[in-house]
Amino acid sequence: MRLWLLVSKRTHKPPALSRRSSSASSGLSPARDPALISGSSRELIRRLGSQVEVRAGFITEEEEGALLRELEPGLRKKRYEFDHWDDAIHGYRETERVRWGAVCEEVLNRVRSAAFPEGSPLLGPVHVLDLDKSGYIKPHIDSVKFCGTTIAGLSLLSDSIMRLVNENARNEWLDLLLPRRSLYILRDQARYNFTHEILKDEESVFGGQRIPRQRRISVICRNLPD
Ligand code: OGA
Ligand code: MN
Repeated sequence: MRLWLLVSKRTHKPPALSRRSSSASSGLSPARDPALISGSSRELIRRLGSQVEVRAGFITEEEEGALLRELEPGLRKKRYEFDHWDDAIHGYRETERVRWGAVCEEVLNRVRSAAFPEGSPLLGPVHVLDLDKSGYIKPHIDSVKFCGTTIAGLSLLSDSIMRLVNENARNEWLDLLLPRRSLYILRDQARYNFTHEILKDEESVFGGQRIPRQRRISVICRNLPD
């Protein structure tokens, strides 16, 4: 059972891609990796500030290889799940992991110190989500009962696009380009008031540019609620 997911029940139709990519109000983040965040307005990007981060090249190819070597044997034993139409995630298999080899543990410690407030108690097991090339994640907000203020994820094997949409003002949105081997961090409002989703391959366009979605594995760390 996916305790950390709370699917947003409202059906949400994102704005047409063509309109969005040519929108004059489309803004780029002035801070961090500006080329990786676009949104409905500059004001929104400014307002969310450090609550949304994408760090390109957070791990090396070697570190990605170490993570994959550790994860693949277990994942390969599972089958991708496609048929639960009401599930938040389509075309996935997943696992959780507590113990890691030295290289991976070092990577995860880097994620933890980049993402979480010092001393914040973390969810013990790290969540590993393997999306098939045809898989995608529908808009949802992670369970507030089981997860705290911050969600941090590494992307392996593929670039992808994460879309955030304000639950209470659906015209407010951000698209994050998550390059392979990047780290993203969602905090506070961006985590509680915005749904997040990973676009399917057919919809994977960023700033007018097509971003092919291959099989993608994410390694996600969360903290505990207060
Ligand atoms: C989730 C989720 C995002 C990702 O599992 O709740 O939103 O990067 N995953 O895979
Ligand atoms: Mn989520």
